Amino acid sequence: MADANPFQDPLRFERRVPPCAIVIFGANGDLTKRKLLPALYRLAYERRIPQTFAILGNSRTHLSDEDFRAKMKESVQKFLEDAPFDESVWESFSKGLYYVTGDLQDPACYEAIAKKLSEVEKDHQTGGNAIFYLSTQPSFYADVVQRLGDQKLNHGAGWRRVIIEKPFGHDLESARKLNTDIQGVFRETEIYRIDHYLGKETVQNILAFRFGNGIFEPLWNRRYVNHVQITAAESIGVEGRGAYYQEAGALRDMIQNHLLQVMATVTMEPPTVYDADNVRDERAKLLRSVRIMKPEEVPLYSVAGQYGPAKVGGDDLPGFRQEHGVDPEARTDTYAAATFFVDNWRWAGVPFYIRTGKRLPKRVTDIAIQFNAAPLSLFRQDTKSGLMTPRPNLLILRIQPEEGISLRFLSKSPGSGMRVRPVSMDFNYGSSFGERSPTAYETLLVDAMAGDATLYTRQDMVDASWQVVQPILDGWANQKFDFPNYAAGSWGPKASDEMLARQGHVWRVP
Ligand SMILES: NC(=O)c1ccc[n+]([C@@H]2O[C@H](COP(=O)([O-])OP(=O)(O)OC[C@H]3O[C@@H](n4cnc5c(N)ncnc54)[C@H](OP(=O)(O)O)[C@@H]3O)[C@@H](O)[C@H]2O)c1
Repeated sequence: MADANPFQDPLRFERRVPPCAIVIFGANGDLTKRKLLPALYRLAYERRIPQTFAILGNSRTHLSDEDFRAKMKESVQKFLEDAPFDESVWESFSKGLYYVTGDLQDPACYEAIAKKLSEVEKDHQTGGNAIFYLSTQPSFYADVVQRLGDQKLNHGAGWRRVIIEKPFGHDLESARKLNTDIQGVFRETEIYRIDHYLGKETVQNILAFRFGNGIFEPLWNRRYVNHVQITAAESIGVEGRGAYYQEAGALRDMIQNHLLQVMATVTMEPPTVYDADNVRDERAKLLRSVRIMKPEEVPLYSVAGQYGPAKVGGDDLPGFRQEHGVDPEARTDTYAAATFFVDNWRWAGVPFYIRTGKRLPKRVTDIAIQFNAAPLSLFRQDTKSGLMTPRPNLLILRIQPEEGISLRFLSKSPGSGMRVRPVSMDFNYGSSFGERSPTAYETLLVDAMAGDATLYTRQDMVDASWQVVQPILDGWANQKFDFPNYAAGSWGPKASDEMLARQGHVWRVP
């Protein structure tokens, strides 16, 4: 049946956003200033949100509406990526910016928000539509939602929605409890769990690439794919967020959410229709097919790492334990790698290697799909060493930076004799389209306003990915790691290379 919501356009051609207000909890924080406000300003600049729109920020720091506007103007000017700042657009946009000082643990804060929200609704004709964006400490999420319910802010003249930032839970049990707590106040269709990777253009393009073309899908299975490597490497360390990071670690911070979602995007079955239910059904089904590791498999199929100090390019880089705010004996994983298997007919037996880490040699996120080698090598490889190392076809989906897709294949080297050498066929987003891509937060905020949850995670998806990660966390809690086990600026611990070597594979250098 066709969707009854007139604001939904699953393919996002003529997305109309209804009037609404966004209440941002944690409005004095890093995410608000670096991502949310620049994204909202940009949407106003492009006239993708209506004039009848308002933002209500909340934090404990005392600020007047004017102070908040001035602070946000500074942030937008500083963090607006590849986009111009227009004084006249800001002038009109900032008239819809308001601030309520208050502590989330104090019921009076919610009374003040409710009062201000109803004033804003009148002044800006937002029709009672409101989104509550939880951009504050994760330990507050359940409490904030409960108090929104106590104050009856989950109901209004229009629709009400809640956006929950990552991390969604600290482990399987806490994620389940959080789901139950939030669903006690909001219906599942009103809950938007954000995983900003799903909003990235390049991640959405994986679906376009797979399901918009006829030639790749027939190869997209265990008969042709040898293995897949997903890498999310960062060259920076914890950058002043050591206290937060030491509680999370790489497995929780990246694999449980972003990278398992990316893997699901690469491996899910085609949905019958491109809409929130069908796409999320397929993602959830895939995540439920990921094999859960047994305790004795954890050391074989997962690797934890932590960086130690090193001199890189003349700079002395500190180890994780020497970072500001970090316990000198911290057991946190700043590197995590795992081998996953998807137990379904399409992928049985194909290893999916995922790795992520801080202080690796470069910042890069990509997916490398390695196909089986040709059954018979007729030609000599043209390599300096003259060795006949097989170079199978490789398809690389580049998420960041240099967003694009490359296909590696063998080509005849110039000159006499049939020698072959790997070459690459490249598609580059920037040069092919020559226009700016929206940031993930622009895409996701418009989607939430339009009531489209396709790119948000659902309860069953979050639950399934925690089920995959929990045995690894449990296994690691009982293992004694010799941290630090990789030097800052290197590609991670030796054990990670050994994990692949056991299957006859090697990590590629991105
Ligand atoms: N930063 C990022 O790049 C990023 C990326 C992805 C996800 N996230 C997630 O987004 C959320 C926010 O992250 P963040 O980096 O913006 O954190 P943050 O910089 O620590 O900001 C949180 C804000 O919440 C306010 N706050 C703290 N306790 C409060 C209380 N009791 N009552 C009212 N307000 C309170 C604080 O402002 P006052 O001191 O003025 O109260 C603070 O500025 C977190 O869940 C994080 O995991 C962040």
